[in-house]
Amino acid sequence: MYLQQNDEGLGKSIHNLVYCSRATPELKEDSIASIIASAQHHNPRFGITGILVYGSGIFFQWLEGPRDNVTSLMKLISADPRHSDVVLLQEGNEVRDRLFPDWGMELVEAADIRDVLVDAMQESKDKIQKQTLAAMLEELDTGSLKDLSRS
Ligand SMILES: Cc1cc2nc3c(=O)[nH]c(=O)nc-3n(C[C@H](O)[C@H](O)[C@H](O)COP(=O)(O)O)c2cc1C
Repeated sequence: MYLQQNDEGLGKSIHNLVYCSRATPELKEDSIASIIASAQHHNPRFGITGILVYGSGIFFQWLEGPRDNVTSLMKLISADPRHSDVVLLQEGNEVRDRLFPDWGMELVEAADIRDVLVDAMQESKDKIQKQTLAAMLEELDTGSLKDLSRS
């Protein structure tokens, strides 16, 4: 049997972390591109996938992967001077497939985030995954993420 590095395997839990933050004046015009480039370079090696949304000076990021790797990456990201006011929206361990298995870190336009989540939910065959996405959509429509998709 072959084990891939950082392959969490079937039936094992996956750690996910979702947060919002505010861009600082340190965020320059090309910063988003360089953040995505860093993420696409580093994340696959640590088994981390997810999405990054940016709009109206607000970030929203979904990270998923092995717990220790997600925690270490989040520490690094939290210390990044290009954003501040990091608010943890959700963190947990679940036995389910990845929500965004093919993306090292994909930049999603704020206006498209709803469609991305709806698509992922419709394609999902995993009950817990569907519930997680439904909760995200609910949060997007009613809660703290509302302004993101209106930018
Ligand atoms: C909102 C935000 C999200 C980020 N997401 C990631 C990420 O998913 N992966 C990553 O490696 N770096 C991410 N970064 C960048 C890291 O904070 C750090 O700058 C980078 O990993 C350093 O890598 P480099 O030396 O290759 O540029 C993010 C930064 C910000 C501000």
